[in-house]
Amino acid sequence: MRVLGIETSCDDTSVALYDEARGVVANLVSSQLDLHEPFGGVVPELASRAHLVNLLPMIDHLLARQSLRLRDLDGVAVTAGPGLIGALLVGLSTAKAIAFGAGLKLIGVHHIEGHILANALSGPLVLPAAVLVVSGGHTEVVMMEAVGRYERLGATLDDAAGEAFDKTAQLLGLPYPGGPAIDRAAEGGRSGRFRFPRPMLDDARVVFSFSGLKTAVRLAAAGLPRPLSPEDVADLARETQEAIVEVLVARLLQAARQRRARAVYLAGGVAANRRLRAATAAAARDAGLHFLPLQPAYCTDNAAMIAYAGWCRLAHGQADGWDLDSFARAPVVSWR
Ligand code: KG4
Ligand code: ZN
Repeated sequence: MRVLGIETSCDDTSVALYDEARGVVANLVSSQLDLHEPFGGVVPELASRAHLVNLLPMIDHLLARQSLRLRDLDGVAVTAGPGLIGALLVGLSTAKAIAFGAGLKLIGVHHIEGHILANALSGPLVLPAAVLVVSGGHTEVVMMEAVGRYERLGATLDDAAGEAFDKTAQLLGLPYPGGPAIDRAAEGGRSGRFRFPRPMLDDARVVFSFSGLKTAVRLAAAGLPRPLSPEDVADLARETQEAIVEVLVARLLQAARQRRARAVYLAGGVAANRRLRAATAAAARDAGLHFLPLQPAYCTDNAAMIAYAGWCRLAHGQADGWDLDSFARAPVVSWR
């Protein structure tokens, strides 16, 4: 079976092909970073229009490179939500038109399920697993009993972890997106000079709160000479990253213990963070849990994870109707 994947939920246009026999054979991503960078964040209308311009040429290119025609495929998997509605509609309409015209199955994929299942692209999943989903819009722990069976254990009360990275980076004068910028800046930073709060670290529930971090960083930076020196930025970035990573890892391991998971996984753009990967690996080792970090290309938004998630549903005899709708927000749902 071959499934074309389409991902347009935010600011990356991505198309991919998952082949049951060969795995991911192509995963193309067209980044819109340059388009949104001057605004310091994603501008929804610009994102939709860029998807509209880029999507079909990318699909055309992918099929030509693989010497395939649409009728050689079995299904089209597309992100139905959560995400920016205008951006999602471009992907959904294209997927429907292609599937309808070529007689293929249509599979709407939940973006978060895509991020979670991306872990299966790096090796066989060890289940049950506690998965920390950390992206620009989401911070939650999901218990995965099996592929298609999920339970959300808890989420952030305010900002997402990626948002915390992006907003604090802006305060430090670092470029957008802030996550990779803080990851790089923190490398040269010293620990111990600043101390930011780790909210609710002792809470027995799976909860996160990152909104106070911005204030802590702003107050610390306000006491320093302007413009901030590279050393100040590096030290502040280091403690920002440490404060975020410490609570993320503590919560993930706490959830894994409570639910007797055999493995822990990371998912979403923030899973590319080097400190988070190293801290999770160390904590998992100490707790005797399986952990394999995702390839960086499968952390941030990509259509390979959507194609794979679509294939999983198709392999279980599932598909969606032509009335498939988009959605801006909704927790990940079980389909088995
Ligand atoms: O999953 P993703 O590509 O898009 C969403 O669905 O939101 O995640 C994007 C987020 C951004 O907030 C970005 O700053 C963050 O992932 N990110 C990182 C790193 N790379 C991307 N955060 C921390 N460290 C990184 N290396
Ligand atoms: Zn995402």
